[in-house]
Amino acid sequence: MEVKTSLLDNMIGVGDMVLLEPLTEDSFLENLKKRFNHNEIYTYIGSVVISLNPYRSLPIYTPDKVEEYRNRNFYELSPHIYALADEAYRSLRDQDKDQCILITGESGAGKTEASKLVMSYVAAVCGKGQEVNKVKEQLLQSNPVLEAFGNAKTVRNDNSSRFGKYMDIEFDFKGDPLGGVISNYLLEKSRVVKQPRGERNFHIFYQLLSGASDDTLKKLKLERDVSKYNYLSLDSATVSGLDDAANFRTVRNAMQIVGFMEDEMQSVLELVAAVLKLGNIEFKPESRCNGMDESRIKDKNDLKEMCELLGIEQSVLERAFSYRTVEAKMEKVSTTLNVAQAYYARDALAKNLYSRLFSWLVTRINESIKAQAKTRHKVMGVLDIYGFEIFEDNSFEQFIINYCNEKLQQIFIELTLREEQEEYVREGIEWTNIEYFNNAIICGLIENNQNGILAMLDEECLRPGTVTDETFLDKLNTICADHQHFESRLSKNSKFLNDHSLPHNCFRIQHYAGKVLYRVEGFVDKNNDLLYRDLSQAMYKANHSLIKQLFPEGNPVKVNLKRPPTAGFQFKASVGTLMGNLQTKNPNYIRCIKPNDKKASHVFNESLVCHQARYLGLMENIRVRRAGYAFRQAYEPCLERYKMLCKNTWPHWKGPARQGVEVLMTDLQVPAEEFSYGRSKIFIRNPRTLFFLEEKRKQCLEDLATLIQKIYRGWKCRSHFLLLKKSQIVVASWYRRYAQQKKYQKIKHATTVVQSYTRGWQARKLLRELKYQKKCEEAVTTIAAFWHGTQVRREYRKFFRANAGKKIYNFTIQRIMQKYFLGLKSKLPSMSPIDKTWPARPYLFLDGVHAELRRIFHLWRCKKYRSQFTEEKKAVYEEKLEASELFKDKKALYPSSVRQPFKGDYLEISKNPKYQKLSSAVDEKILLADVVNKINRANGKGSPRLFVLTKKNVVLADQKTGQLKANVPLTDVASVSTSSQTDGFFALKLKEGSASAVKGDFLLSSDHLIEIVTKLHRISSMAADREKLNIDISDEFLVQFKQDKVCVKFIHGSPKNGNSVSCKRKNNRLLEVSVPASS
Ligand SMILES: Nc1ncnc2c1ncn2[C@@H]1O[C@H](COP(=O)(O)OP(=O)(O)O)[C@@H](O)[C@H]1O
Ligand SMILES: [Mg+2]
Repeated sequence: MEVKTSLLDNMIGVGDMVLLEPLTEDSFLENLKKRFNHNEIYTYIGSVVISLNPYRSLPIYTPDKVEEYRNRNFYELSPHIYALADEAYRSLRDQDKDQCILITGESGAGKTEASKLVMSYVAAVCGKGQEVNKVKEQLLQSNPVLEAFGNAKTVRNDNSSRFGKYMDIEFDFKGDPLGGVISNYLLEKSRVVKQPRGERNFHIFYQLLSGASDDTLKKLKLERDVSKYNYLSLDSATVSGLDDAANFRTVRNAMQIVGFMEDEMQSVLELVAAVLKLGNIEFKPESRCNGMDESRIKDKNDLKEMCELLGIEQSVLERAFSYRTVEAKMEKVSTTLNVAQAYYARDALAKNLYSRLFSWLVTRINESIKAQAKTRHKVMGVLDIYGFEIFEDNSFEQFIINYCNEKLQQIFIELTLREEQEEYVREGIEWTNIEYFNNAIICGLIENNQNGILAMLDEECLRPGTVTDETFLDKLNTICADHQHFESRLSKNSKFLNDHSLPHNCFRIQHYAGKVLYRVEGFVDKNNDLLYRDLSQAMYKANHSLIKQLFPEGNPVKVNLKRPPTAGFQFKASVGTLMGNLQTKNPNYIRCIKPNDKKASHVFNESLVCHQARYLGLMENIRVRRAGYAFRQAYEPCLERYKMLCKNTWPHWKGPARQGVEVLMTDLQVPAEEFSYGRSKIFIRNPRTLFFLEEKRKQCLEDLATLIQKIYRGWKCRSHFLLLKKSQIVVASWYRRYAQQKKYQKIKHATTVVQSYTRGWQARKLLRELKYQKKCEEAVTTIAAFWHGTQVRREYRKFFRANAGKKIYNFTIQRIMQKYFLGLKSKLPSMSPIDKTWPARPYLFLDGVHAELRRIFHLWRCKKYRSQFTEEKKAVYEEKLEASELFKDKKALYPSSVRQPFKGDYLEISKNPKYQKLSSAVDEKILLADVVNKINRANGKGSPRLFVLTKKNVVLADQKTGQLKANVPLTDVASVSTSSQTDGFFALKLKEGSASAVKGDFLLSSDHLIEIVTKLHRISSMAADREKLNIDISDEFLVQFKQDKVCVKFIHGSPKNGNSVSCKRKNNRLLEVSVPASS
């Protein structure tokens, strides 16, 4: 049986007092103190949580902590309020048991904080979602609103709740919050008009004055000064650690979240302001003629402002403060109020105004947080009621508060001590009774209908005649004197005891938590809670919707002459209902303990704690727990819950449930001392056994879930499979049908095709036969016809010429030619003689014609071109042509000359005065004049000479002087020799025997060789009387020099000679001209 037992492991002291050994009050306190000093403020007594107020914030409420405690067993982790909250929430959610969290303790022990922690824990672990979060937020935010209006600083607690609060949080079946209902119990309204020393009025007054904007304050006609208001105590206007301004903003924000409209908030603040104003209204006495004093309002300014705020007519309220109307049996009597009565009326109005406003706030919040769904819901109630209070001066409020605490203690006793012990006896479990103090007797003293204190107070209040607090005390003295928990001066006196600590106007009750001395002053008034009808009617007349709502009894239509129920009566009734409500729920206790009276951290006042532990009955609680059993359950539900843990009981046990449980326990081998069998219930001693069972059950449930899952999955898969199979058959049948249909259609189609083919074939066969027959018949006819034709042609052939073919041929050719010529005409190339283009030949057979036409066309266009020439130009071209005929492809120099125009007269001799003599010697027209080199016969060197050519002569003259050197008639020139190379050498060979030949031939060199030779040739060819001049082109020729013939030989010069032509005499017979290789 392995269960986590963190309660025993690593624990400071003992986490669960039940395990404390030895159990004495000292060890109990020692343990609490030890844990407290180590910041362990929570300790268990079984499932009850003891909480010590640390008076400082501890890091144990983080979200991580929430996660840690979530869904964990109660005893698994160290004691914490979260463990209790989790346990309560889970049994609510999983076991469908309504829960209540009862938080008890003295004022300042940490009840309110604890209730907030529980709520915030539940909010953190329950469901999530937009809607749920809104509900949670509203539930949580209702706290700051109620705290602002219902809490105040007291000497015990800076944030003491001055009202009782019980909140039901409603959940749906999943455990998601749906909403809530808040019940409030008796606000301590006397605080509105008067606060004990060192205490404050309700927070909201201070929050409003310090937190509201200037604008708001102006609207509310207030000033930001606490000292200006009579109802606000000055001595602790500011509390350290309490930021009123910031809290005001928090409250406004919370009101907004809870769902208050802007105008509602405004109305609420107006009422708060009105209470403050009311406090400032003061009265003064004014003597009347009848000797009575009548009150008058001192300064009407506050009254005026208050009336403006609430929309009340000033005169109405003023009257209500001065007169009191008593109605009885159709009679109306008006009496004036004296100053004391006026003050009383004022304070009563203020108290009523405020307490009714508070109740309205609760109602309004309830409207907002009300669960919407009408479905059945589970409920978790959180009770945070005022703690037991003992002040120096205790009044009606303390009496009521302490009464309430008595009742709570009763419930605790009922459920944890009495009920439990009685149950053991009832169930026949062996049990030794544990003594404890049952406070039922005190409850009886207070609430007994015949002679209870509350009943007597009511009686006093309703009694005709003069009723005062003293008459009430007298009554108590007569009736309760013998009660062992009641003491007063008189009752003691009657026992001949003289107790000076007990003043005359007081009585003392020995509460379960201690003796409290109550002063009777104000009991009657406070119980009556009387508000003069004039005031409530004045309020009802207000032009302010909220005020009107708060004072419905002021409506003159609904005048009710019956007395309203007294405050004590009301409270008793509501406490009764509350107790009834709590008893239906599963209780979870948080018992808050105050470690010291100074609100100080780290201080553990042993006697104070001991006192609280005693009256809370904690020791008895532990004893009962130790002797008793932690857990019990009727046999049926127990069997139902755990039957899966044993084969014999699962799934059904036939037989009595008790036997089933016995079988179960034996099967699980739970040690016999761990449990007992009662008459109708099984009792389990140790929570560990329960956890063991729960753990097993959880495991088993998981296995069962797996089994169910398995079977379900199998079933699901199988149904799916069957469905698939069924579907498959349907699909297959449909498909087969479809396939067969297709196949059939195909076969049908094929048959038709085959059929058609056969038919076609047959038909064709038939057709062929028929055709053949027909052809045979035709053939016969044709043959006959041909035969006849032949016969006829044979007969007539001689009459025809077979020339049709030739005609057709000619015609075709003609057409082709025509087309060809027309085509050619349209595509003729340009007239430029150098244009080489020519359209393509269309037919091969036109090859020759095409080429010829191209030639003709070219010649023609050349002719056309030439025809544009002038005579001179013509001559030039003729000369060029002649040059071409002479030299083209024969002399390498030629190509370079083509581009040079034949200028003829390069020297302009006639114009040059230097050559005047020469020009006069040459009487004919000069065809060419140029400077040439005459090659010296002796050494091959050249000397410049003027070369002049006329129609008849060649003249050589000195270049400088122009002196004639030789004049050779052209008739004497036999031939001209040149080389085939690029040089300008030429030899003028003279006719042998002529006059000129005496000196020998001329070997010359000129840059214009081609022009000179051409011109020479041309002149000779044009002269009719001469034969044509011979032009020899050879690389080796002979030249006649005087006597000898010298051979002039042209060789390709070696590169070292450079690019110039050089001539050298090699020997007597050889002149070598070296010509650079033409590039
Ligand atoms: N768990 C806690 N952690 C820290 N401070 C606490 C805790 N409980 C109470 N207190 C302090 O004690 C003060 C009084 O607690 P409160 O719950 O108002 O007492 P009660 O409601 O019992 O009169 C709180 O204002 C807070 O300062
Ligand atoms: Mg409180």
